[in-house]
Amino acid sequence: MADSPNCDLKSLSPLQLFERVTEQGEKVRALKAGKAPKDEIEAAVRMLLSLKLLYKTTTGQDYQAGLPPRDLVLINNGTSKEEDEDFVDPWTVQTSNAKGVDYDKLIVRFGSSKIDTDLINRIERATGQKPHRFLRRGIFFSHRDMDQILDAYENKKSFYLYTGRGPSSQAMHVGHLIPFIFTKWLQEVFDVPLVVQLTDDEKYLWKDLTIEKSYEYARENAKDIIACGFDINKTFIFSDLDYLGTSTGFYKNIVKVQKHVTFNQVKGIFGFTDSDCIGKISFPAIQAAPSFSSSFPQIFNGKENIQCLIPCAIDQDPYFRMTRDVAPRIGQPKPALLHSVFFPALQGAQTKMSASDPNSSIFLTDTPKQIKTKINKHAFSGGRDTIEEHRKYGGNCDVDVSFMYLTFFLEDDDRLEQLKQAYTSGELLTGELKKVLIETLQPLIAAHQERRKQVTDEMVKQFMTPRKLAFEF
Ligand code: TYM
Repeated sequence: MADSPNCDLKSLSPLQLFERVTEQGEKVRALKAGKAPKDEIEAAVRMLLSLKLLYKTTTGQDYQAGLPPRDLVLINNGTSKEEDEDFVDPWTVQTSNAKGVDYDKLIVRFGSSKIDTDLINRIERATGQKPHRFLRRGIFFSHRDMDQILDAYENKKSFYLYTGRGPSSQAMHVGHLIPFIFTKWLQEVFDVPLVVQLTDDEKYLWKDLTIEKSYEYARENAKDIIACGFDINKTFIFSDLDYLGTSTGFYKNIVKVQKHVTFNQVKGIFGFTDSDCIGKISFPAIQAAPSFSSSFPQIFNGKENIQCLIPCAIDQDPYFRMTRDVAPRIGQPKPALLHSVFFPALQGAQTKMSASDPNSSIFLTDTPKQIKTKINKHAFSGGRDTIEEHRKYGGNCDVDVSFMYLTFFLEDDDRLEQLKQAYTSGELLTGELKKVLIETLQPLIAAHQERRKQVTDEMVKQFMTPRKLAFEF
């Protein structure tokens, strides 16, 4: 056996290299346990040391058994969590910092890129449109390969958008709207197809729900998504439980992904354990598959190489780190991503708004009165304890939930800046700031409810029928 890693090894991805070191470690242990000849053991150990060295030079990290390379690690099993580090995965978002997750650190940890002014200016030049407030205010803050999408777009090559929702409940909350509001803007300014995955299978596997219930929630959630204003001629919404069985293109991609990701890898990325059901373990391949245009032959005329752009909050990134690692190995382009920050819980930015805690969230079904009561009662305030102190020292917008919510929903930049100054100087009191938020959210949610009422079952059926969209490929 050769003592140093060969050229083929040098072309391995960090994740494959990690796997290779793990395998070699197991081999050394087996040889020792089997009392193999001394020279054979020594050769295997030398190979192991060389692989570890190659791993270190490739990833900049020391190999640690059970811990895949850091930009692929989902820090959710406790083993790799450093003290005071934020905890972000598709199921949990937690930080001890009242200002919320440290997103700059997350960019470094996840290995994505910051959406900087240059990129925002480039999007503005390419589309000829004022950047959305989510871009202007750093709410969409991180990306992977957005410059490639813009290169393609500027060279008149099309791309498509892919986003999704896990239908775990009948009512979505305001936080769930963030990626959909932004996706709608992207669809409008770039004029591209959109596919929306409703992972009713995922919610059946993860939650205490029957198949029938999660399927029903998928249709209910589809109504909320349609109410965001997507163009029926340019959008395909699908439930996994429906579409998977009917599309061979989709299923082929699932199987290809499944063949190229090991149990060890998904354990490292998602924290699965030996007692998780096999449905969970293979699910990431199902969320990966819509990133490949061949999963939708009816839309892309069977073309395999149409680039995909995925807008989502950063909690979904682990799925797409895995997808991007696999893509070149199955001959597909890597999907690009745009990541948003989390819409915080009413109680503070230490965690995200979550549908499973009604008091943490404002739902799209809430009445004007419920919205008012929730904000007045639960929205964490950055104000002072007494009016006198507040007037003297001012409030803290960095931790004030009402102010944070306004940064997501108040369109007028000047008004937002005025509110910030008035609150920080102590001129504006918490109750007054909350009133501005209530008056911003009540009409917004009422308008959403009105649009949702107009969404008929027939419209849902049309959006969810596999078909050609208004684009030629
Ligand atoms: P789900 O249903 O948990 O979330 C749907 C979308 O909303 C984002 N999101 C939030 N954004 C801002 N603030 C919050 N508090 C907040 N909570 C959730 C999520 O990032 C997501 O974009 N497995 C997925 C469904 C899915 C998907 C996708 C999502 C399938 N394919 C492709 C995005 C892109 C899920 O359960 O999402």
